[in-house]
Amino acid sequence: MAVQISPSILTADFARLADVAAKVAGAADWLHVDVMDNHFVPNLTIGLPVVESLVKATDLPLDCHLMIENPDRWAPGYAEAGAGSVTIHAEAARAPVRTLREIRKAGARAGFALNPATAVQDYEDLLGEIDMLLVMTVEPGFGGQSFLDIMLPKIRKARELIRKHGGEIWLQVDGGVSSTTIERCAEAGADVFVAGNAVYGSDDPAQTVRDLRAQAER
Ligand code: DX5
Ligand code: ZN
Repeated sequence: MAVQISPSILTADFARLADVAAKVAGAADWLHVDVMDNHFVPNLTIGLPVVESLVKATDLPLDCHLMIENPDRWAPGYAEAGAGSVTIHAEAARAPVRTLREIRKAGARAGFALNPATAVQDYEDLLGEIDMLLVMTVEPGFGGQSFLDIMLPKIRKARELIRKHGGEIWLQVDGGVSSTTIERCAEAGADVFVAGNAVYGSDDPAQTVRDLRAQAER
């Protein structure tokens, strides 16, 4: 499984999103866009109109992480807008199978996210509908939080279930991923790494992406 790095723009300058994307162009695989609605999580960021503009402003594929209520209503629109990947939360989706299928039908990869308290075993039957499983390594809502070590066994469990299921399902981690935590995540079986603060809080975001990749590949 190839390592992929998806820098999160959450703590970057929202007034300069094209520049923010350009800073990691050529180094990153994806641009991670955190969509928050102030209901599913206690924070409000950007929505569909901004994503529609951002698709045109960068060549990087957008990895849209929807931390919103009623993703069944909104997720397909992000795929139709040109996002390369659209991730919905297990805790918010009421009809996840239908929604994951609609995301795929609209041409995007279908992602499925689990909050720290959500057990991965409960969703084993859905693996056939999923292109990427996201194990949250912080409670969603904010960048710059500390990595939750207690999620490492869940990453391992997720990798084991994916292996058992067969097929190519990516395993993403998001929250507190940095030079001090990425190796543990990779060792546990993650292959797609979201990093916000670690990348955009550094002096050279592109170089940081390369460094993180090298560490994860070790
Ligand atoms: C948190 C978001 C993350 C966040 C990660 O709810 O889903 O994508 O931006 O930021 P860091 O890497 O700073 O923890
Ligand atoms: Zn995220």
